[in-house]
Amino acid sequence: MQIFVTKDYQEMSEAAADMIVDLVEEKPGCVLGLATGSTPEGLYAEIAKRHEAEDIDFSRVATFNLDEYRGLPADHEQSYHYFMQKHLFSKINVRPENTHVPNGANPDAQAACDAYEASILLAGGVDLQLLGLGHNGHIGFNEPAPEFPKETHCVDLTESTINANSRLFDSADEVPRQAYTMGIGTIMAAKQVLVVVSGEDKAQIVRDAFFGPVTPEVPASILQFHPNAVAIVDEAAFSLC
Ligand code: GLP
Repeated sequence: MQIFVTKDYQEMSEAAADMIVDLVEEKPGCVLGLATGSTPEGLYAEIAKRHEAEDIDFSRVATFNLDEYRGLPADHEQSYHYFMQKHLFSKINVRPENTHVPNGANPDAQAACDAYEASILLAGGVDLQLLGLGHNGHIGFNEPAPEFPKETHCVDLTESTINANSRLFDSADEVPRQAYTMGIGTIMAAKQVLVVVSGEDKAQIVRDAFFGPVTPEVPASILQFHPNAVAIVDEAAFSLC
């Protein structure tokens, strides 16, 4: 795993946006795996800026998001569909039919997850998968567990994730208890992985995930075994390494 340390959040966002834009320029029909959370907001803003200023063309790009809350319709303000629309899709010329997010509105978990996994394969797999890092080491919504889940599946969110994400809802009670997420196998199958991490509150988990033992109790630790993984981490998040 290659780790780049940046001065701050803005520099991290610019470096990550550069990598994604470079790929789109090199391979206009590429498949991007995308992530939600606060960390990628800055890099999505940078991509939007670059699209506007340099006319970067996303019309042939396909996107697959990591995860979605089970039970939230696409137009719910806290759904990841809504997040992606607001922060990225509405700002670039990606075609709506080429953007994919697991269907949280489908109550049939097996069907929703199987269809999602199949659509990734049909698209030829993910060229570059963007990831954030949860405080407990989760990637997507793959929570610490006794084993690494392989494919897209339905998960029960942990208390720590519910609490962390409750800041975006009116109260913790409103945070859905389950989500559909790509599995660790789905993520590891991406040709390249790009993890972005910022802030002192992530310093301990950066150390555990990138320098500690590889274990499903720290799901992101598996990225140490990915043949083409890049982490862009700001100084604050790298401060315990
Ligand atoms: C959420 C998402 C993850 C994200 C993580 C960290 O639960 N499902 O994909 O990476 O939390 O989010 P943040 O960047 O806001 O710290």
